[in-house]
Amino acid sequence: MTTYTDLVTSDQAHMLHPLQHPAAHAAPLIFARGEGVWLYTVDGRPILDGLAGLWNVLVGHGRVELAAAAQQQMTALAYCSNYAGTSNLPAIALAERLAGFAYPNLHYTYFTSGGAEANESAFKTARYYWKRLGKPNKVKVIARQDAYHGVTLAAMSATGITPYWPMFEPRVPGFLHIVAPYPYRFAGDTRPGESIGQAAARALEQAILREGPDSVAAFIAEPVQGAGGVIVPPDDYFPRVREICDQYGVLFIADEVITGFGRTGDWFALNRWGVQPDILSFAKGITSGYLPLGGIQVSDTIRDVILSAPPAERWMHAYTYSGHPTCCAVALANLDILAQEALPAQAAAMGQRLLAGLAALQELDCVGDVRGLGLMAAVEFVADKETKTPAGIANNILAACLERGLLTRTKGESLLLAPPLIISAAEVDQILAIVRAAIETVAS
Ligand SMILES: Cc1ncc(COP(=O)(O)O)c(C=O)c1O
Repeated sequence: MTTYTDLVTSDQAHMLHPLQHPAAHAAPLIFARGEGVWLYTVDGRPILDGLAGLWNVLVGHGRVELAAAAQQQMTALAYCSNYAGTSNLPAIALAERLAGFAYPNLHYTYFTSGGAEANESAFKTARYYWKRLGKPNKVKVIARQDAYHGVTLAAMSATGITPYWPMFEPRVPGFLHIVAPYPYRFAGDTRPGESIGQAAARALEQAILREGPDSVAAFIAEPVQGAGGVIVPPDDYFPRVREICDQYGVLFIADEVITGFGRTGDWFALNRWGVQPDILSFAKGITSGYLPLGGIQVSDTIRDVILSAPPAERWMHAYTYSGHPTCCAVALANLDILAQEALPAQAAAMGQRLLAGLAALQELDCVGDVRGLGLMAAVEFVADKETKTPAGIANNILAACLERGLLTRTKGESLLLAPPLIISAAEVDQILAIVRAAIETVAS
C-alpha cells in the first residue's frame, strides 16, 4: 500500500511546485477529493477550503454537472485549433454569452488558459491599439504596489508584490507602480480636504504626467486587490481613475481574475462603482477552476481597431489553447450553475455574515483591521493598535487555523479568506469560530 510518506518522497523527488522552497513543502497536504467547501486529504481528514482553491472554486468541489459537461465535449471534440480560419461550438457559444455580460461596452473576447496569459494579452493589445492609432511610443503600463497580476515575465513586472521580482530580474522595462488605495495603511500623501480615494487616484495622474501621457499605454488594477491583502478601495477611487484615464488617453485594464463571476457580490466588481474598463482580464471563476480558462474582453472601440487593420498590422497574438472546446464547455455549465443558484447574491449575503463575524474580532488587542467585499475578506494583525506595528503572528495563526481544519493563506500580517460561494451560514460560522480560536491561542 502506498503510504503518505511514499507519496511525499515521490513528490519531493520529482515535482517543482509554485513558490517552491523545501521548508514550505516538508509535510505537504495531499488531497484526494473534495465536496462543497470541503477538501479531504489522502488519509481522509476533512479541511474547509477557506480560499476556494486559489480564490477560484466558486461553485464548490465535486460538481458532477461540470464533469458531465467535460465528458460530453471531450467525447464529441476535445480539442481543435481556434486560430483565425477555424472555430468550435462551445467557444462560439461562450463568447456570445459573455458579450455585454460583464460591462455593456465589452462584446469581444479572446480566450487564454489563465490569468497571467490574460494580462499578457491585455498589455500587448493596449500597445497594439496605440500603434494602430499612430502612437507607437505609448507602451508603458502603470500598476500599483501590492498588485498581483501573475508571474510570467510581463505580468510579474506589473505585479507589485516585490518578493516576486529579485531572483528573476531584470523586469520588463516600462512597468511602474503607484500607491494602492489601502485605507488602513495609505502610503501616499493626502492634501487638506482630500480623501484617500482621491489622493490614490491623484498618484495615477501624477505618474501619467511625470512619464508623459504620450508614453503611457495603460493603467491596470484589480477592483479589490486579492493576493495583495484584500485591499478594498474607497468608493470615490475608481470613478476618479476612470476620469483620469479618459483625460490623458490611457487605457484602463481591469484585472478581474479574482473578482469576476460573483466573488464580490456583483457579477463583476467595477459595476459597484458605475465604472467600465477598456480591457477586462478574467480567469479562475469562469470555470470555477475545473479546467484552465481565462481571457480578455476588449471595448467596442478596440475591437473596431483590430478588425479594420490591414494585413501587415494584424493582431499577431496567439495561444494553442485559445478557445479550447472542453474548457469553454465547462465554463458554460459553470455559468449556468452560478446563475441558477444565484451565487453572486449568495456571495453578498454570506460575505456580510463573514465580515460581521470578523468585525467582532476587533475587540482583540492584536486585530488591527478587518476588511472585505462580498466573499473576500482579510484580518490584519498588529502588535499595537495605535502605532499599527505589524504583529509578526499571521503565519502562526495560519498554522493554528489548519490544525483546527481551516486552510487558507496570508499576505504579510493579514489572514485572507475567500471560501467557495456555495458556503452555508453554518460553515461561515465554523470559519469564524476557528479563526477566533486560532487568534486567541496564538495571542495568549
Ligand atoms: C488578480 C490576479 N490576476 C492574475 C492572476 C494570475 O493568474 P494565473 O495564476 O492563472 O496566471 C491572479 C492569480 O492569482 C490574480 O489573482
